[in-house]
Amino acid sequence: METAKESRPATASDAAHGPRKREAFATGLGVLAATIGSAVGLGNIWKFPGMTGQNGGAAFVIVYLVCTVLVGLPVMISEQMLGRRARKDAVNTLRELAPRRQPWWLIGAAGGLAAFLIMAFYSEVAGWVFAYVYKSVSGSILSTDPATNSAVFGDLTGSAWEALFWQWLVLAWVGVIIMMGVAKGIERVTKRLLPLLLLLLIIVCVRSVTLDGAGDGISFLLKPDFSKVTGAVVLAAMGLAFFKLSVGMGTMITYGSYFKDEQNIPMTATRVMLADLSVSLLAGLAIFPAVFAFGFDVDAGPSLLFITIPAVFASMPGGDFFVVVFFVLTAIAATGAMLSIVEVPVAFLSEQFRMSRKVATLLTLGLLAIVGAPAALSMGELSDVTIFGKTFFDLYDYASSNVLLPLGGMFMCLFVGWVWGFDKVKRALSNDGKLNNSRAITVFFTLVKYVTPLLVLLVLLDGLNII
Ligand code: PFF
Repeated sequence: METAKESRPATASDAAHGPRKREAFATGLGVLAATIGSAVGLGNIWKFPGMTGQNGGAAFVIVYLVCTVLVGLPVMISEQMLGRRARKDAVNTLRELAPRRQPWWLIGAAGGLAAFLIMAFYSEVAGWVFAYVYKSVSGSILSTDPATNSAVFGDLTGSAWEALFWQWLVLAWVGVIIMMGVAKGIERVTKRLLPLLLLLLIIVCVRSVTLDGAGDGISFLLKPDFSKVTGAVVLAAMGLAFFKLSVGMGTMITYGSYFKDEQNIPMTATRVMLADLSVSLLAGLAIFPAVFAFGFDVDAGPSLLFITIPAVFASMPGGDFFVVVFFVLTAIAATGAMLSIVEVPVAFLSEQFRMSRKVATLLTLGLLAIVGAPAALSMGELSDVTIFGKTFFDLYDYASSNVLLPLGGMFMCLFVGWVWGFDKVKRALSNDGKLNNSRAITVFFTLVKYVTPLLVLLVLLDGLNII
């Protein structure tokens, strides 16, 4: 059995904060699995297909891919690098690494807010997945009829008690796992998951692309029509890239703080990105051919996954069994991601205020039950209540993915490129000269200093209609 190990010498700030032991991921594979566990989640299986459908298909996917490579990846490397250097939560990492009196820690604080907002709607979507596990076990969801499938989803999201019940169940579930601790809890849950999920997605893809009329769905995913790409669409794609890789809010700082000194960060981040993209593209291939084959509404957005997937399984031998497995695996993937979101405020509260992890977790989840409730009710009781023309659910999503994460990511890059500087970056990413990766470091540094922040700024200004 693996145990958490202390993998670094004591630092001056240990003296200030007391000789508190920091857990670390036990193995290099554990790091990769846990980081992928954070990235892969409802973003791949629910958000990516939903947004691709709403934003016109292939062209959106291409813009999203470009944003992932030019923006998401550099921010991920930056965060992991800073976290490992300081070995602290996001706020204290930036506080420690920045020159005195410069308020870079605000990025971490804004990240805490983003974490809250994301969790407030994510826990609801995870709640729908848990509900579908239950419904699929009782055999009530398999149908290829668009009206029936929409009604099942509508009944769930429209009922206040059901919506709240499932969200709070999810929050309680996350609480129990978090209290088990970093290495034990997160590693164990995520390690064995991905291969199984991938396998099942491949099976679903095969069924989906061989349905009569699947061709239109495949072209939708592969033949770009750039006339639909507006500033708002590019911003949405960039927001998705941040959300997908769990970057821009300090999650990867917190994870980096648990990395070992020998971990090759650029390589790890690239692998995480590739694994994450594969799952999203597979989810797209599983869903869109079926959407066209069965005549579902391609821009159904948040409901797309829940109305389409039951139809694919309904038309497959053993579908009533596989549909249960599918939603169980999705629930586990969502759990891995949620653990990493909640880890941001929990690590901060417990280290900053010397709170026990138990108290910090209870406080965070308790607040989430309150802040999340309006998101849970957004498709029912509160569907008419809008702020800036958006329901609570959409507002939490928009404000986090399209505003806070890009801003956080941009400032993170500016910090690394202009304040921290090349020498420190080189030392950190080459593991003090032990790795022979100076070309990769130069490319990374050029991106992070100039290209990424400028791109984020332009997309933000354009997408928010400021220019
Ligand atoms: N990346 C996760 C997903 O795509 O489901 C969501 C997420 C996790 C976003 C952690 C942000 C985060 F910090």
